[in-house]
Amino acid sequence: MSEAPRRFYDLQMSSPSTSKNDATDQNFDYMFKLLIIGNSAVGKTSFLFRYADDSFTSAFVSTVGIDFKVKTVQRNNKRVKLQIWDTAGQERYRTITTAYYRGAMGFILMYDITNEDSFNAVQDWATQIKTYSWDSAQVMLVANKADMENERVVSTERGEELARQLGFDFFETSAKENLNVSASFDRLVDVICDKMAESLEESAQAASTGTQNLHDVGQSENKPPCSC
Ligand code: GTP
Ligand code: MG
Repeated sequence: MSEAPRRFYDLQMSSPSTSKNDATDQNFDYMFKLLIIGNSAVGKTSFLFRYADDSFTSAFVSTVGIDFKVKTVQRNNKRVKLQIWDTAGQERYRTITTAYYRGAMGFILMYDITNEDSFNAVQDWATQIKTYSWDSAQVMLVANKADMENERVVSTERGEELARQLGFDFFETSAKENLNVSASFDRLVDVICDKMAESLEESAQAASTGTQNLHDVGQSENKPPCSC
């Protein structure tokens, strides 16, 4: 049986809920902070458990506050350590969860294909990202529970169209049947790497044309040294 999801108050007391190796592993080229957001019960915790531990449970234990897991992946010959934050979808935790948006390089914004409300809420979640995170954060729109075809109320086309309007990549997934879970994270890591490469190029260009000011220089020094 898989372990119960960790709670917000557990975070102050203990180390991340992942294998000790991943959490303490210092052997990586980049570290990306990612967040999973979306309405309650869409499957955020299940998605993370599937990705990090390859486990799934049909029991629903709603997340309290926020939790995280760490996973290190190999992409384009680089070791990328992912710190993945699993947020509570319930409205009453919104103040806590939005405080964690700052510094996130990528978001998995999830809805449930069997739940119209969760799809209608995507626009609001996208606005929250715009409000609380930095401009360059990358977003995957993820339509979960694709295994429940008989109960589907949101078509693939509607999902694709919304993703296009919002400028996000789109995946239909199933945490239960392990469909497109790793693919969603892999794509998110790749687009973050692309974005990093782009901004480094812009910095280099600005420096060579002499348009960079001291403030920009300070910022670029804080960025990772090269793209993946
Ligand atoms: P909050 O923590 O309240 O925000 O919810 P959550 O988004 O983390 O949802 P959670 O992962 O706890 O899943 C809610 C319910 O949906 C649980 O009963 C899961 O077993 C179920 N579930 C999650 N993903 C899938 C899926 O891909 N397919 C099916 N059939 N059920 C799923
Ligand atoms: Mg949860």
